[in-house]
Amino acid sequence: MSTLELVRGWLRDAHRIVALTGAGISAESGIPTFRGAGGLWREFRAEDLATPHAFARDPKLVWEWYDWRRGLVAAARPNAAHAALAARPDITLVTQNVDGLHTLAGSRGVLEVHGDLWTLRCVGCGAERSDRTVPLPELPPRCSVCGDLLRPGVVWFGESLPERTWSLASAAAEAADVFLVIGTSSLVHPAAGLAARAKAAANAKVVEVNLERSGAGADAFLEGRAGEVLPALLAGG
Ligand code: OAD
Repeated sequence: MSTLELVRGWLRDAHRIVALTGAGISAESGIPTFRGAGGLWREFRAEDLATPHAFARDPKLVWEWYDWRRGLVAAARPNAAHAALAARPDITLVTQNVDGLHTLAGSRGVLEVHGDLWTLRCVGCGAERSDRTVPLPELPPRCSVCGDLLRPGVVWFGESLPERTWSLASAAAEAADVFLVIGTSSLVHPAAGLAARAKAAANAKVVEVNLERSGAGADAFLEGRAGEVLPALLAGG
């Protein structure tokens, strides 16, 4: 029996399936990943662009980088991997991605544990708004309520994850029979720890879809592009 058939059997028998996705699932949509060849962290330093300290030091620089990424994402379309997951509303979807492509593909209730690129949040009064304007007319943008700086509604290094979203993701992981780990290097915690929690809590089968094995501790590894593997894995389920 092939690994694909084995995992299709696990999925058929499962009551609760959870998928955690990372930047690799959007690679085939033309959005750069963070690590590996062509990865954003090869070209840019996270500490200059994706920390509260970097924003306090130079909000314009940070915003220029996010405005550029918003432009890349605005031009991108969901791919076959996003579509395969959207066709399976029985799967609880947790993503580290801030690109919103799962929702654009039709997935509902996506748990975006690192926030999203389209939310702007005031550092002063906390007001939030969704704004898909690309490019933004003024960098850094300002709050229309109190005039303070707006920041991207994403999670930066050194910050906590959004509490409610994270607690829903944790509870889903701990109740899973099958936990899919898709297109992530499994290096950034706490998201990277969800697979191990699923294993520890309910002995979930952990299945990884990636070009290369990460440290996710998978019971089954499906090597390949998410846009090819997921349609074959999830169709007809
Ligand atoms: P990474 O860039 O660390 O890892 C991307 C993973 O996707 C790698 O393991 C690749 O092998 C794999 N990959 C690439 N193309 C693929 C494809 N077509 N199909 C399947 N897999 C593919 O991205 P993440 O793990 O998502 O956080 O990074 C985690 C977090 O680190 C991000 O959310 C971001 C980043 O810094 C913050 O900004 C807080």
